[in-house]
Amino acid sequence: MNPFRSLAMEAAAAAILLVLLLSPPRAEAHNITRILAGHPSLSTFNHYLTLTHLATEINRRLTITVLAVDNAAMSNLLAKHYSLGTIKNILSLHVLVDYFGTKKVHQLTDRTTSTSTLFQASGSAPGTAGYVNITDLKGGKVAFGSAETGELNAVFVKSVEEHPYNISVLEISQVLSSPEAEAPTAAPSQLNLTAILRKQGCKAFADLITSSGADSTFQENIDGGLTVFCTPDSVVTAFMPKYKNLTAAQKTSFILFHGVPVYQSLQGLKSSNGLMNTLATDGASKYDFTVQNNGDVVTLKTDAGKSTITGTVIDESPLIVFKIDKFLLPKELFKASDAPAPKKKSSKDAAADSPDASSPDGQPSDQTAADSNFARKSVAGVRQLAGAVMCLCLSVALL
Ligand SMILES: *[C@@H]1O[C@H](CO)[C@@H](O)[C@H](O)[C@H]1NC(C)=O
Ligand SMILES: *[C@@H]1O[C@H](CO)[C@@H](O)[C@H](O)[C@H]1NC(C)=O
Ligand SMILES: *[C@@H]1O[C@H](CO)[C@@H](O)[C@H](O)[C@H]1NC(C)=O
Ligand SMILES: *[C@@H]1O[C@H](CO)[C@@H](O)[C@H](O)[C@H]1NC(C)=O
Ligand SMILES: *[C@@H]1O[C@H](CO)[C@@H](O)[C@H](O)[C@H]1NC(C)=O
Repeated sequence: MNPFRSLAMEAAAAAILLVLLLSPPRAEAHNITRILAGHPSLSTFNHYLTLTHLATEINRRLTITVLAVDNAAMSNLLAKHYSLGTIKNILSLHVLVDYFGTKKVHQLTDRTTSTSTLFQASGSAPGTAGYVNITDLKGGKVAFGSAETGELNAVFVKSVEEHPYNISVLEISQVLSSPEAEAPTAAPSQLNLTAILRKQGCKAFADLITSSGADSTFQENIDGGLTVFCTPDSVVTAFMPKYKNLTAAQKTSFILFHGVPVYQSLQGLKSSNGLMNTLATDGASKYDFTVQNNGDVVTLKTDAGKSTITGTVIDESPLIVFKIDKFLLPKELFKASDAPAPKKKSSKDAAADSPDASSPDGQPSDQTAADSNFARKSVAGVRQLAGAVMCLCLSVALL
């Protein structure tokens, strides 16, 4: 090959890599609510994506396909009076964790494929129930159905919006039928979060939920799946001076930061390194934290600090509560300097951070900015690297 051409290629690749590495992650996050807002015939579907918090989950994903249904199809679904938890399961089967544009569904290799959905990712779909079968029928018709039943009960109607290979929204004719997704979820009305916390050694934390006015938000979210991280009483007491310093609105956000609007089992957390939205999240990369695993230790990090899961308080899907050794510190309210200076410690093992090891203000050692910054950047870095590899292939192809 011409050496100049190869040099130019390398320079181009390096430039692309540099741009990718320097650009902030997720600068152009998608917003499914906004996309669907332009289509009044899909408004009920849109409304339920928000109610079930699936919208947040969709926006968080980098590559996603949403199979939307019109208001008439949604009315048929709602007429069955499912609980919100069940509706969430059903709609999560309509979110494919891969990119399927109009062209792709009409040109499937072997004319059929089976693809994973958010129902599968939720961990509550047994067997093949979390997969959707897409089949290109004769005459250009494309059919969709749950892989569990093999019944292809919906067909492609039209493309709503496509941004290859980030997000695709396709309208299909019917809600996909799936006995597993339609199965009743636990009766959540019986679960009283603050009452449970009080009984399980998180009384002071429960009091903060009530006094900050966050109680109803937590309680309303149980139905659609909720994960809560609570701190032991001693940690709450020690942290009060910092907490009292917050405005009323900040207190609410701070407490809501300790809830995640999905049911996340410990196993799920262990296999899901990356960004996690919280009940306080209102916009891309606001009030989120990073999950990081090291062996059996699950660490939750922000730019201002990190916490470690020390135990499970209750696990009754759709509600799960974990105990953590320190409060989660949102970067919007705290700086790394709010965490106390690191104590001298030989082991960096997060497991050593038992609640008893707390410093006087309840936020023990090794919470350094550099540390958590690195975690965030690693996650972003992996994403961008994937992008870089794609771009590299592209530029090679062009040259
Ligand atoms: C999808 O369903 C059709 C019809 O039941 C079946 O023939 C096909 O093999 C299925 N495709 C996959 C990938 O499972
Ligand atoms: C897809 O997402 C990437 C990164 O978030 C962004 O740079 C790109 O412009 C997006 N593409 C489209 C077509 O929206
Ligand atoms: C939960 O129980 C507490 C008493 O422990 C009560 O004050 C509160 O109203 C209950 N909340 C709900 C949503 O039932
Ligand atoms: C409370 O805020 C003030 C002003 O920002 C600061 O000087 C003080 O150190 C804070 N107190 C605590 C306990 O964080
Ligand atoms: C998405 O768009 C809706 C409507 O335009 C807006 O209310 C909402 O705040 C946006 N969400 C995010 C995460 O930006």
